[in-house]
Amino acid sequence: MAADISLKQLTREVDKRRTFGIISHPDAGKTTLTEKLLLYGGAIQMAGTIKSRKANRYATSDWMAMEQERGISVTTSVMKFNYNGFEINLLDTPGHQDFSEDTYRVLTAVDSALMVIDSAKGVEVQTRKLMDVCRMRDTPIMTFVNKLDRDGLDPLDILEDIEKTLHIECAPLSWPIGMGKQFQGTYNIHKKQLHLFSATHGGRIQEGIVITDINDPKLDELLGQHADELRMNLELIEGAGYPFDRERYLKGLQTPVFFGSAINNFGVQELLDTFVELAPPPQPRQTTTREVSPYEPEFSGVAFKIQANMDPAHRDRLAFVRICSGKFTRGMKVRHHRLGKEIQIANATIFMAQDRTGVEEAWPGDIIGVHNHGTIRIGDTFTEKEPLKFTGIPNFAPEHFRRVILKNPLKSKQLNKGLTQLSEEGAVQLFRPMMNNDYILGAVGVLQFDVIMSRLKDEYGVDAVYEPVQTETARWVTCDQQKILDQFTREFQSNMALDAEGALTYLAPSKWRLDYTMEQWPDIVFHTTREKV
Ligand code: G4P
Repeated sequence: MAADISLKQLTREVDKRRTFGIISHPDAGKTTLTEKLLLYGGAIQMAGTIKSRKANRYATSDWMAMEQERGISVTTSVMKFNYNGFEINLLDTPGHQDFSEDTYRVLTAVDSALMVIDSAKGVEVQTRKLMDVCRMRDTPIMTFVNKLDRDGLDPLDILEDIEKTLHIECAPLSWPIGMGKQFQGTYNIHKKQLHLFSATHGGRIQEGIVITDINDPKLDELLGQHADELRMNLELIEGAGYPFDRERYLKGLQTPVFFGSAINNFGVQELLDTFVELAPPPQPRQTTTREVSPYEPEFSGVAFKIQANMDPAHRDRLAFVRICSGKFTRGMKVRHHRLGKEIQIANATIFMAQDRTGVEEAWPGDIIGVHNHGTIRIGDTFTEKEPLKFTGIPNFAPEHFRRVILKNPLKSKQLNKGLTQLSEEGAVQLFRPMMNNDYILGAVGVLQFDVIMSRLKDEYGVDAVYEPVQTETARWVTCDQQKILDQFTREFQSNMALDAEGALTYLAPSKWRLDYTMEQWPDIVFHTTREKV
């Protein structure tokens, strides 16, 4: 099959793809921005489509609604659209109550990220966490400071906040003129263009007014008193800020910054145009043996997310596979390396913004959905021939914990099976303490606990309840000296557990205790992530 591909076509397809995710704290404007991006991409015709889905989500909280919600998130997990000849895959990074390990893991499948910051709030906690994940692969990040139509922080303070909190240089490519009721627009430093804001222009932004010399009196005519303020700010940034450097952006050391207002569709096209121009196409990916280039003709892909099907009667699951190299064609036979088996991917799904359609072919950077009955796990690699195992799609240390108590002891086998399978899907992690037979669940977001309980009941017929547990955080522990590790394990027996893949884990009663233990045991390595085996 590999021989059929023309390298020229492969290169063309790779180069025009942009696969990215949005990182932000809830309410910064991710949904609004996503919607505007999809409007530009022609993937949706009407504003409000995504919003109303979100509204539905908050109106109800029972299990049926959650089922529906999972259905919705299947279709919106990957939003594919075309813009100016670029094929864009926007991977959803669920926030709010859905915030889970999946949110983190999606970021390991993208080539770059867009960070949305609320201009009144600056950098918030969830953004910081997501940024840590981006940093694992030095993912390039472009920033959109949103809600300039409202009074917010001084733009210079926002940049300082980003630089200090996230340890990344800011290179403003646009600069706001006023804010709130005084918001006049932005000046595109990159293109030397002025964009004037009007809350009533109904969407598309007008062509920018080109002003190559900021001392041009036209600027005073257009902006009045704000003209001098802009001149001063531009001078300040030029002196103190970082000039844009594409190499530094691509290495994740610098973030280009745009200002705007997503809800008013202001600054969005500017952002999108620059994004497709500057953001990287699909990147090479590491395996346990070598790096795989997207331009290699042999197909390869890796599963980074598993989603249960909407219909609980069938334990059918959808594995999200990112294509890493070569061309995928419908019905293709590939090797599933963990199982050492050949499988045929006959029923692959490609994700469009609104519905799913059968895919005939897909290219590096694209995501395909593969139906299976639990044979695919997160991290599984598929190739045409060469045995490979992609790395960099890890487990993340959970932040919430519960003990599972079975109501009917006769169901313990089903409980074990259910929890093992559900943890393989990756939304929750299962720990077995070394001192007893408890089942401890760990999750990144608390909503997952409700989801697991309902699914245990519906899919495995298991009635169980949760108990709180004295664990605040967890770390996988390793040490190059087995003796020290054994000593540590003995000393902390009651806090030690094995995760679903048998990796040794320290369940810390508190963050303070963890810090203290880390200090006391300098030879032990405490990992916040663990590569899947
Ligand atoms: P999220 O997905 O990051 O959680 O944020 P979302 O887009 O839902 O936006 C959160 C709130 O911020 C929404 O208001 C949204 O309308 C508003 N918003 C988004 N962009 C802008 C902007 O540029 N300027 C201003 N002023 N507001 C913005 P809401 O009241 O929570 O929802 P809704 O009733 O407007 O739907």
